[in-house]
Amino acid sequence: MAKRRIIIDCDPGVDDAIALLLAFASPDEIEIVGITTVIGNVSQPATTRNALRIAAMANRQDIPIYAGCSRPIILPHEQRGASVHGTDGLGDLGVPDATHAVQDHHAVDFIIDTILREPGQITLCPIGPMTNIAMALIKEPSIAAKIRDIAFMGGAAFSAGNTATDAEFNIWIDPHAAQVVLSSGIPMTMFGLDVTRHATLTQARFDQLDRDASPIMQTAIAMMRHYGGGDASLHDPCVIAFLIDPTLFRGVDAVIEVDCDEAGSYGRTRATLVENGRGQGQSVCHVITEVDDERLFQLIDRRLRLLRPTQEMAA
Ligand code: RIB
Ligand code: CA
Repeated sequence: MAKRRIIIDCDPGVDDAIALLLAFASPDEIEIVGITTVIGNVSQPATTRNALRIAAMANRQDIPIYAGCSRPIILPHEQRGASVHGTDGLGDLGVPDATHAVQDHHAVDFIIDTILREPGQITLCPIGPMTNIAMALIKEPSIAAKIRDIAFMGGAAFSAGNTATDAEFNIWIDPHAAQVVLSSGIPMTMFGLDVTRHATLTQARFDQLDRDASPIMQTAIAMMRHYGGGDASLHDPCVIAFLIDPTLFRGVDAVIEVDCDEAGSYGRTRATLVENGRGQGQSVCHVITEVDDERLFQLIDRRLRLLRPTQEMAA
């Protein structure tokens, strides 16, 4: 299978961190062209700081990181206090700050420039709110036909959400952005709560991760323990695992609509199943509904063990 060339658009966030580490540990299947950050679990700049810290932790300062949008397109998001990700977004463990810097280019411009430079080659992997992707499509509509495909974590097609309006968090933060992306006609694979809720961290799995854990794994485990207390699902790593081994997952084709009514179920995604991938003129999304969660967990365990920590972590 040809190596995927990807841009990971993220809001680290603990499960974003595990997704990034999984991608770093999979160079045979994935080439990360760049990482872009967006407001979500914590503010942007905090998500940018965290992306830099995770890259430094894994000795991947070579991967360029671009800061993106710090608010949703329409409704500003009032950042609340600590979440399952902790006040700093990475479990409040004191993960050292990076010494390398974010790029000068804005994330939206990086996405546009990369797609125009490499038409048909790039997979976009948004694992946070879709604000950057939507802004890129709004600023340069011609990229829609030049994006190879999008694999994203977000939404809940056939199951409950995880916010007060029964929406899934990433879509709830910026439903207008999600509507722009989901109606773009770009080939899309959706990893919503329907499937990511099955990627759970059980005690037995924590025990396995703990065995002979390297310093970088110990940090990842500590992050997940903090996170697992509130939400034991590894939502974002499902997107990266799919690019490594698509056989882990199964899904159905559907048209996905987003509720943008502030008085309604704001951010809720609604799915209408389609036959033979035809959506009668509407964008069709391949909605992942099943995962072999044991094989997924074993993949994550094996790959995280390949990572080599930074010198100070190894000390
Ligand atoms: O609903 C889960 C999603 O929201 C994940 O991407 C998590 O990181 C948060 O952003
Ligand atoms: Ca995320």
